[in-house]
Amino acid sequence: MQKATNIHTIFDKLLQRSDKEALLQQQSLCIWMTGLSGSGKSTIAQGLERKLHDAGILTMVLDGDNVRSGINKNLGFSEEDRMENIRRIAEVNKLFLSAGVVTINSFVSPTNDVRALAKTIIGEQDFFEVYVNASFDECARRDVKGLYEKAMKGEIKNFTGLDAPFEAPTNAALEIKTAEQTIEESVETIYNFFLRKIKNHHS
Ligand code: ADX
Repeated sequence: MQKATNIHTIFDKLLQRSDKEALLQQQSLCIWMTGLSGSGKSTIAQGLERKLHDAGILTMVLDGDNVRSGINKNLGFSEEDRMENIRRIAEVNKLFLSAGVVTINSFVSPTNDVRALAKTIIGEQDFFEVYVNASFDECARRDVKGLYEKAMKGEIKNFTGLDAPFEAPTNAALEIKTAEQTIEESVETIYNFFLRKIKNHHS
């Protein structure tokens, strides 16, 4: 594909992120959930968004299955495509952060490399990794979407945790073990952790 030339960005002429944050009375930041398919990321995202919304905070949920049916519908699950998936999502995050919005991400984002890419694009100070931890066996037992059964029959290739890697994050800001608590407890934990930062992030 031909790359665009003659690009004249106008970032410096636009209103700043701080203007948007002042309007919204919140500090934007990126909540980045990582974990196996079926670990509970999307469910937590839904509950968390509702709770933050009720507290007067403007959020945007970005979720694997949604994004992959739209902006990233041309991508699959090879290592290269997962990188491109996350690269685009990270750029979308940057746009929302510059609009003062709190982003809630639920993507498998299975490797240290792919999460490092997101962190670099989004910016270390705004990037908060949350490890939504449930074992492969637990996710396979839940099998909410029926994908584990298919993958174990060999009907899905490159399935995370089976024939594609999942590297657990080593220094996540927060870890949620979804097999050990209720959905409400998981949502409460993550909400309490972030509310303070959203109201007070850079000060
Ligand atoms: S990522 O690895 O590129 O971050 P992403 O979060 O966008 O993955 O998409 C994962 C979702 O796609 C899973 O929740 C599952 O519903 C679906 N999916 C389909 N095929 C696969 C696969 N081979 N590996 C993992 N998830 C898959």
